Amino acid sequence: MPALAGKLVDAPPPPPMPDNVPEAEAAPPQPAIRKSVGLGQLLYENHCVSCHESGVHIRSRHAVRTLPQLRETVVRWSEYARLQWRAEEIDAVVRYLNDSFYHY
Ligand code: HEC
Repeated sequence: MPALAGKLVDAPPPPPMPDNVPEAEAAPPQPAIRKSVGLGQLLYENHCVSCHESGVHIRSRHAVRTLPQLRETVVRWSEYARLQWRAEEIDAVVRYLNDSFYHY
């Protein structure tokens, strides 16, 4: 039997994850949400990444093709998650996703 030891292939290291968000950031729901630079990112990371890593937005065949479509999708997901976001919060998340991934 030929020795196969030389054929063992090392798995490549996993890609670096955008993991700079402290866990303590999961704030309890509050009636008045502070407006801040990172509002969209905060909302997204608190409510949306539990399901998908942000990688879903940079797939080569992602479904969202236009800015209005992106907004529709964010509305749909926020309704799905029963978040009752106001237009302001929807906009913040759309802006965050667009700035970070889509660039429409
Ligand atoms: C229940 C799990 C779940 C939750 C919660 C969720 N998503 Fe999604 N989301 C998915 C899945 C699964 C897909 C991929 C659907 C597909 O491949 O067509 C997706 C796709 C998307 C897309 C389209 C990506 C693309 O370009 O193709 C957007 C935008 C999106 N989600 C936004 C959100 C936002 C914003 C939230 C938070 C309000 C959210 N999602 C919460 C499961 C979830």
